[in-house]
Amino acid sequence: MARDLHSHAEPERVRVRHVELDLDLDFDVRAASGTAELRLERTDPAAPLVLDAAGLEIEAVRAADGAPRDFTLGEEVAALGAPLRVALAPDDTSVTIAYRAAGSGALQWLAPEQTAGGEHPFLFSQGQAILTRTWIPLQDSPGVRVTYGATLRCPAGFTPVMSAEQLGEDGDGAFRFRMPQAIPPYLIALACGELAFRSFSERSGVWAEPSVVDAAHDELRDTEDMIRAAEGLFGAYRWGRYDVLVLPPAFPFGGMENPRLTFATPTILAGDRSLVSLVAHELAHSWSGNLVTNATWRDFWLNEGFTVYFEQRIMEEVFGRERSAMEQVLARRALEREMADLAPEDQVLHVDLEGRAPEEGCTLVPYEKGALFLRRLEELFGRGRFDRFLAGWFDGHAFESVTTAEFVAYLRRELLDGSPEVAANLDLEAWLSEPGLPADAPVATSDALDRVDAARAAFLAGDGGVETGAWTTQEWLHFVEGVPADAGAAALDKLDAAFGFTASGNAEILCAWLRLAIRARYAAADARVESFLFEVGRLKFLRPLYAALLELDAARARELYARARPRYHAVSTSALDRLLG
Ligand code: BES
Ligand code: ZN
Repeated sequence: MARDLHSHAEPERVRVRHVELDLDLDFDVRAASGTAELRLERTDPAAPLVLDAAGLEIEAVRAADGAPRDFTLGEEVAALGAPLRVALAPDDTSVTIAYRAAGSGALQWLAPEQTAGGEHPFLFSQGQAILTRTWIPLQDSPGVRVTYGATLRCPAGFTPVMSAEQLGEDGDGAFRFRMPQAIPPYLIALACGELAFRSFSERSGVWAEPSVVDAAHDELRDTEDMIRAAEGLFGAYRWGRYDVLVLPPAFPFGGMENPRLTFATPTILAGDRSLVSLVAHELAHSWSGNLVTNATWRDFWLNEGFTVYFEQRIMEEVFGRERSAMEQVLARRALEREMADLAPEDQVLHVDLEGRAPEEGCTLVPYEKGALFLRRLEELFGRGRFDRFLAGWFDGHAFESVTTAEFVAYLRRELLDGSPEVAANLDLEAWLSEPGLPADAPVATSDALDRVDAARAAFLAGDGGVETGAWTTQEWLHFVEGVPADAGAAALDKLDAAFGFTASGNAEILCAWLRLAIRARYAAADARVESFLFEVGRLKFLRPLYAALLELDAARARELYARARPRYHAVSTSALDRLLG
């Protein structure tokens, strides 16, 4: 097993196998406190248990009989937190840690005004990549899979949910959960607030605040079809239920693939199902990521590249080739745009993260270059063979954490070695270890988007009305993203008058437009920029908007950020603190 640079744990000596949580969620003081019982596998009987902990108050460590055990909390290492060392007695097969998690890390405590209902506070966790250690002391490495159970107590009227089977409430006010399948610690997740549920099918449904749940149910009604399509492609869904939790807009990501319960931003609720590829993506992680997990954060492309490829295949099955092709064209442009600003070593799939936080490897490279690599393999070996190859990968490594080297060995054994004349057309080294996009990267094309290019050119040339009647979100995005920043404020004024972009209710289109508006100094959008930055916590939107503001008016960027910052999750603030200095 490859060493994980981002964990203090020494699982080859003592390994955590099961985590049993018993926590009180206190919204008044914004803290989770209680106990974590860790069940252990001991390979080296003389070794201490070494855990990851960041910002936790450790009150006591006890053996199964309640007797105390000595522990030391080492020095905090930047981004990694501290090692928590527990001295074990010879017979210890478990320890129970009493602790408290306050402060900002994985847990974000939202004020009532940050929710749709506006009356109750809300709590959610975000564990990936290395934040689970900020609310649970454990071996926070994706190579250390655990089963877990939990008992949660929260105020009356609140519903807690987790990335686990919900066992319900026993009349004692405590809610119980159970995850009997071994998962990496970054997938342990909870949320708690005023929540309602509506089902799509026997095994699938959506959770959201009561005032959002109907819209969410309507928007995501293709979820069961997506699950079936995914199963048809790469094998049975192995987690029982698949539900989606639509969070308040402060959620820092588009989506997070917490097992059995995808967490999603409400900014995908566009009203026309046009942004649901995000659900296809998080669902795909049920295979690529959750069943077969990157062993270290260097191998992140095994999670995300596979998932983007799988997402695109699901979209093609459920919504057709044209939709999927448009999404691929947009993704390719985003990749090229981002890669132009990345150092060569960050353009590499199997990235070197020595001395760096996992987040620094979280660019579009593992996502889109990773997916293009798999598309290239599909192109070379044909869909039938490649699909069997991928299904075999998921099946043969189910509930395992895997390295890039293991994937390469599987690829050689199953595809390359048996077909040397085909393999000769693949420069594996270039794909995995070199910067940039290899020359043989497949190019997606879309006639619909080509027509958008023509329409945009005509509009900007002042040729009058263009036919946009039945355009989809993807076409509008392509339209807006292609407007040059030096088009000038007058051109943007004409565009806005014709198409109403500043008033768009589609967060993707709005974000693309606002970025353009900032760069073109189109002041009529200023108020919308500000309200958007205050409402939405999704880093994908915040980063480009703050970056554009920073370039034009650094003082305004910093002033806005200082006011909005308390509303953002720690993953967003740590990225934005870096950007805005
Ligand atoms: N697992 C990721 C989110 C993530 C990555 C969290 C790295 C922490 C560290 C999730 O599956 C994801 O990729 N979300 C994307 C959406 C997707 C459609 C590309 C997002 O949030 O934008
Ligand atoms: Zn993902």
